Order: sequence, then structure tokens, then C-alpha cells
Amino acid sequence: MIYNTFGIPATADRYITVSAKDELLDLLQHDTLLHTKPFFVLGGGSNIIFARHYPGTILHLENKGIHLVQELPQSQEVLVEASAGENWDSFVQHCIANGWHGTENLAAIPGTVGASPVQNVGAYGVEAKDIIHSVHTFEVSTGNERTFSRDECRFGYRDSIFKKELKGQYIVWSVTFRLSRTFTPDLRYKAIADAIASSGIETPTPQQLADTIASVRWAKLPRPEETGSAGSFFKNPVVDATQYERLKAEYPDMVAYPAADGYKLAAGWLIEHTGWKGRSLGRCGVYSKQALVLVNLGGCTGQEVINLADAVTADVYKKFGITLEKEAIIL
Ligand code: EPU
Repeated sequence: MIYNTFGIPATADRYITVSAKDELLDLLQHDTLLHTKPFFVLGGGSNIIFARHYPGTILHLENKGIHLVQELPQSQEVLVEASAGENWDSFVQHCIANGWHGTENLAAIPGTVGASPVQNVGAYGVEAKDIIHSVHTFEVSTGNERTFSRDECRFGYRDSIFKKELKGQYIVWSVTFRLSRTFTPDLRYKAIADAIASSGIETPTPQQLADTIASVRWAKLPRPEETGSAGSFFKNPVVDATQYERLKAEYPDMVAYPAADGYKLAAGWLIEHTGWKGRSLGRCGVYSKQALVLVNLGGCTGQEVINLADAVTADVYKKFGITLEKEAIIL
């Protein structure tokens, strides 16, 4: 089995699946290797590039379950807990079927529920942080359970405390979402509003919105079952106002959005304008419909991905003076 959506054959010292709390506790409390050698928690493998043999343990969470924790009648909200090992899109579909709203714009994202808070997944105007209530974890060093409130997770753009200050210290076991019984379609993202309008729908149902999101998504991004990729390979860089003004003056059609601390530039646009879109190095390519995505052209190795990523990063830096940061994790 290949446990990464890029489709890179990979090996590790150990590969362990965990589906029950007791199994995880037992590992955390009694397994010496887990504490003396590296370990990595694998979700759907949709954001991971295996570049070499992994010299430690790959822990694959397969715990399942989605349940309603609490109804909050005054606000029409519900708290719903989902296990880390649940497939993300199945969770979205389950919510829609139960009339729990808020996940629709995140339909069709590959990966698992457990990964959603770690990298604060986001698409089409919504981020996981907008609907996360709390995150339930196990501390690696002690096996103690700890619940992080939304604020404690310190969410940022594709970022959280679990990737930064507490990296490797806590294992996400389940996530509680604050969803709504009332459905208000979020059509702030222009491509989605346009797609809804052009299909003649006036007010989309939750399912229609999720289906539209999925079709807009798959028009630009490769389907993991057809073409290996890790979704967006790079983050969209955030620059300060001075740098933005300088670039905008030189490249008036550059795509950028105001962000909390400056401007977020569309990395896909930057890469496209270095001429890399649709080009390749070895068996790794820059996707022809979305330059932010690197794809496996067949038999690609982790090293080939790194080589292409480095070449793209160098050219973006040369042309725009901006250093792209990887969104994908290289192991
Ligand atoms: N663009 C180009 N050329 C390209 C690609 C994009 O000019 O080759 C321009 C587009 O025309 C558009 C702008 O860049 O004006 C933004 O493109 P897009 O809407 O495709 O979104 P993105 O910023 O490239 C982000 C997320 C995606 C998410 C989409 C939709 C990141 C790193 N990526 O991509 O998330 O699906 O927005 O919300 O933030 C992922 O994280 O794996 C991922 C797929």
C-alpha cells in the first residue's frame, strides 16, 4: 500500500495503525522506540512527501466515529465530535446529511479530520479554525489527555500550535466542531458565486453548494486517484505593504489579497509568471491547470519533488525577490 497521495513508494522502520484509545495509551506509556526514535502521525498522507527511508515509526490513526455532543438551542448551533481517523470529506458529507452546517466549503479536501486542526486546512473562503470548537489530544511524553480550546490552538494560515510550539508533543485524537442548524451559504469566493449563478441556482442547498465546491476544485486540482500530488505544494506568501506596492507597480496584474499583516500573494500566479507552469524536471511536474501544485508524472521520487520545488523556489526568488515556503511536509 502507498500511504501518500503523491504516490511515492516509501519505507519506515515501523508502521503502526491505531484505532482504539487503549492501543494509543499503551504505545505512549510502554513503547520505548516511540520515545527514543522519531515518529510521525500520518493522516491521509495528502500533504506529505517521503524523501527517504523514515528512520522511526509512522503512526497511522484509524479511529472512527462522528457524534453529536451537544445542541445549543438558543444559537441554533451544535457541537459535533469527529475522530481523527475519519476521512475529511466523509465527515463533510455526514454533516450535510444530518443538517449540521458550516463544513460545505471544505468539501472534497483530501485527508483526515485529525489533520484539519494541525494545518488549519482551508478552501473557498473558509478555514477549519472557523468551525473548530476544541481539539482533543494525548500528550506524547505522558499519555495524558488534553483538550485545547480553539484559541489555545493559535490558528494561523495553514498553521497551528501543533505545527509550531508543540510540534510532535501532542497527538490529535478527535476534533469538536461548532456547526449550525441554520444554513447560510458562504459565497464570498468569486469562483463559487459565479459557478452557482451560471448553473441557474438562486439559493443553493447545502448539498448543491458542496457539489459546486467539489466541481470547482476538481476543475483546477488533480484528483488524487488519477494523478499524484500533495494539493498546494507551497503556501501563498504574505508580504508587507511596501513590498506589495513595489511588486504591484512592476506587475500590475499580479494577484493579491489584503491579509491581516500585509498582502497575501497568489503563489500560483508568481510561479506561472516564472514560466514553470506545465513544465517538469525529471518525473515531477508543475501542474498545467494550477501552478501551485506539483504532480507525479509517473514513478517520481521524493528527491525529484525536492529538486523541482528548489528550482521553482529559486526562480520565483530571482524574479520577484520572494521566498516561497512549502505547505507540504518533507519527511
Ligand atoms: N493563479 C494563477 N496561476 C496559477 C494558479 C493560480 O494565476 O497557475 C491565480 C488564480 O487565477 C487566482 C489566484 O491565483 O486569481 C488564486 O488561485 P486559486 O483560487 O486556485 O487558489 P490558491 O490561492 O492558488 C488556495 C489554497 C488551496 C485552496 C484554494 C481555494 C493555499 C496554499 N492553497 O490556493 O488549498 O483550495 O485556495 O480556496 O492556500 C491546499 O492547501 O492544498 C489547497 C488546495
